[in-house]
Amino acid sequence: MNARLSLRTAGLACGLATLLAASPSAVWSQDANTTARTERAAARLAGALARLCPVAEPGDQAAFDACRRSLYRDVQVRRHLNDFVLWGRQKDPSLSLKDSTLTQFGPDVLMGMYVPLFMFNGRYTVGMPDAEGLVQIRLQTAFRNRLAPGQFPYPFWHDADKWGTYEKANQVILYWDTKAERVKVAQFTPFGSNPPIVALQSVSHPAFDGQWRWTDAQGRVQPVVTVFDGLMDPANPHLGELDSTYKRLALKLRDNQCLDCHVPNNPDRSKRLVLLQTPMHAAAEIKRLMESVRKDRMPRDDAGIEQPLDAHDKSALLEEGVAFERVLEQARQWEAGRMATAPMPALPHLQAARPTR
Ligand code: HEC
Repeated sequence: MNARLSLRTAGLACGLATLLAASPSAVWSQDANTTARTERAAARLAGALARLCPVAEPGDQAAFDACRRSLYRDVQVRRHLNDFVLWGRQKDPSLSLKDSTLTQFGPDVLMGMYVPLFMFNGRYTVGMPDAEGLVQIRLQTAFRNRLAPGQFPYPFWHDADKWGTYEKANQVILYWDTKAERVKVAQFTPFGSNPPIVALQSVSHPAFDGQWRWTDAQGRVQPVVTVFDGLMDPANPHLGELDSTYKRLALKLRDNQCLDCHVPNNPDRSKRLVLLQTPMHAAAEIKRLMESVRKDRMPRDDAGIEQPLDAHDKSALLEEGVAFERVLEQARQWEAGRMATAPMPALPHLQAARPTR
């Protein structure tokens, strides 16, 4: 087969349709091995996502919970992710990745909060490598727009256009690095050729009040997905301290201007945004956070010039960072121990992902 753009259905018995594309690039077709490996990886990724996050009603909380828990723990998809994946919406299909505003996410954040907001049917296409060796794996999708507000990592509707793009998304594009054999960038797009795999009716939310986090009528910290809800066991004895150490760290981040830039509305207009405004986001960044402060690379001023903290502020911030990092490690170890001894019921497909003893 010499057409490199093919439409596949993974994990389903519906057979295989092939679309003919422009003639394959010389480089691509010369390296049959790379091609075959990429195609196999694409089939694995599409199959795993459709199995863990299948089509459901867009407000089905149980389906979302199951998808989120299993993606978070899944090894098959995770081992194909770069240490930090650039994520964001495709605003315009003609805009290059270099010129696109994207957010840097560690695998925990991507698999625990963002990708699970989408559903998959296993259908995908594989494109040809671009100048940087990135191949687009395009997965058909639809967005779970009817979940409660606290199921989104932050109120996406702070920007009506952003929320609209999520709702209209019909494909998730994984940019596969053929050399590293990992996903380096992922975008959701409304510009795919298929309709969304679930027909959605648009949802409107109350106007955004400027708060990325809030407390609900029951006194729960929201968004719940950002405080490890559903990802860590409610019985985890470290959860309370995780929350209190994050709060103390967040105060220091605010006092030291970090949250002037590292928040979703991207006041600094970074093309490669880093988010720190919730425990989940900060947890995925804590190592880089500590290193940037230790080495005086952060904070910066508006012109991007490093503005080292004075010794007192620096050590106060690092002290809270160390505390958060320590509790995070304890909480994770507790979860790992529990996973080894008490398998989670109701998610049989996780068996394969669990370490065997
Ligand atoms: C004026 C805006 C601004 C402020 C204030 C700021 N940052 Fe940053 N930060 C940036 C930009 C821009 C980047 C680089 C993103 C990129 O890779 O292009 C960055 C990157 C980072 C990264 C990722 C580092 C890496 O290894 O790639 C971390 C972590 C970080 N900042 C933490 C902090 C902390 C902690 C503070 C407060 C002490 C802070 N930042 C203050 C703008 C800012």
